[in-house]
Amino acid sequence: MDVIQVEGGHRVTGEVRVEGAKNSALKLMAATIMAPGVTTLTNVPNIADVHVMGKVLKNIGARIEVVNEHELRIDTSSVDSWETPYHLVAQMRASTAVLGPLLSRFGRAVVAMPGGCNIGARKIDMHILGLEALGVEFEVEHGNIYASAPHGLVGDTVTLSFASVGATENLMMASVFAKGVTTIDNAAREPEIVDLANMLNEMGAKISGAGSPVIEIEGVSELRPVEHRVVGDRIEAGTFLAIGALTGDPVTVLGFDPAHLGLVLRKFEQMGASVERVSGGCRVWRERPLVPTDIQTLPFPGFPTDMQAQVMCLLALAKGSCVITENVFENRFMFASELSRMGADITIEGHHAIVHGVDGFSGTQVRSPDLRGGAALVLAGLVADGLTTVSDIHHIDRGYEGFVEKLSSLGACVERASVPDEGADEPL
Ligand code: EPZ
Repeated sequence: MDVIQVEGGHRVTGEVRVEGAKNSALKLMAATIMAPGVTTLTNVPNIADVHVMGKVLKNIGARIEVVNEHELRIDTSSVDSWETPYHLVAQMRASTAVLGPLLSRFGRAVVAMPGGCNIGARKIDMHILGLEALGVEFEVEHGNIYASAPHGLVGDTVTLSFASVGATENLMMASVFAKGVTTIDNAAREPEIVDLANMLNEMGAKISGAGSPVIEIEGVSELRPVEHRVVGDRIEAGTFLAIGALTGDPVTVLGFDPAHLGLVLRKFEQMGASVERVSGGCRVWRERPLVPTDIQTLPFPGFPTDMQAQVMCLLALAKGSCVITENVFENRFMFASELSRMGADITIEGHHAIVHGVDGFSGTQVRSPDLRGGAALVLAGLVADGLTTVSDIHHIDRGYEGFVEKLSSLGACVERASVPDEGADEPL
């Protein structure tokens, strides 16, 4: 099995450039369904999830030209199906992002019900409730969602019970051709939502308020294909900047907008790190001991849940105790159990993780619980005593392009290796 092995104690410092945002690129790809023709996406991350979304689009008839590893030309002229099968949704739940585009283009969609994942049930009830308000009828049977809008989609006001990123995106895309005006209240405000709204408007949509809690979409008759650059990945950036706060040596990250990490950078400073804006990104380092700092994850502009594991890695080495509260997902503390194998002292009580700082980590074998937890375990290995072997690294490959190469370029002693699967199921 493939693992990432990292030897702690080496100086990790320098500059890396992050890729386009996974959590934008996947939705931009889905949105091309709504603009028959060739849309060119640049700054696309070369990651497993993008490859799966490519399969989803090809499965309904799109043609994709890989101009280079970061540029895709997606031709949706000949898209003639509105079904996304289970095996693709099971591979990546973000495949449900085609629901809105398929309804907009065909007035119908068949999408496999997404299963849960390691961090939670990942339901889509808010997507369904909101779309029903726009005139979509749903039937769920044999694990598939059958959606149809026999009388077309009609704009209305939808108030989300939680600022769900996915629900906001599907509703925004489903409203583009709806009759009249749709208002999404309590909308998610993530930068990736703004990136999607920007591209849809470049295509001819009339969307206002993206990035605020109230998004208004005035229905138009058609969209035309465009060229669009994916926004920089703020979570990949935050993951590498956390290294500067972790080891203390400066790490500079380029290719993203620091304003998209506002609260994260302020929390790094509260934890004793220094943050300096540079052209095209920012630099983080630390000259003082790590300070315990309470964290509550919330929808943007709150502290991002996708940075929770990375910041827990830092706080586990702070001088004192603090509490991390996870308000977005119901089961996103499995990273804590793995970090405890490395010597961290963390007590989980429901949505709270009480973190008692320890002097250091001890390298050992650990397993990636999810995409961000896996990356954070590699970060812990950078400062652990001895060798840390991280398995289940397919999670990391879903969202980090060239993770090992980028860490090596900063001086880390890290490599991908293939080791016998000791846990393989063998007859007695
Ligand atoms: C997106 O997931 C991201 N994924 C996640 O990133 C990110 O953690 C999350 O937004 C929050 O920022 C992509 O964009 C592909 P939500 P999404 O809808 O859209 C519940 C990563 O590591 N909920 O905002 O699924 C849901 O279960 C991934 O890159 C419902 O109950 O997030 C969760 O507990 C992980 N019903 C909470 O709301 C619904 O209909 C937030 O979900 C929808 C969501």
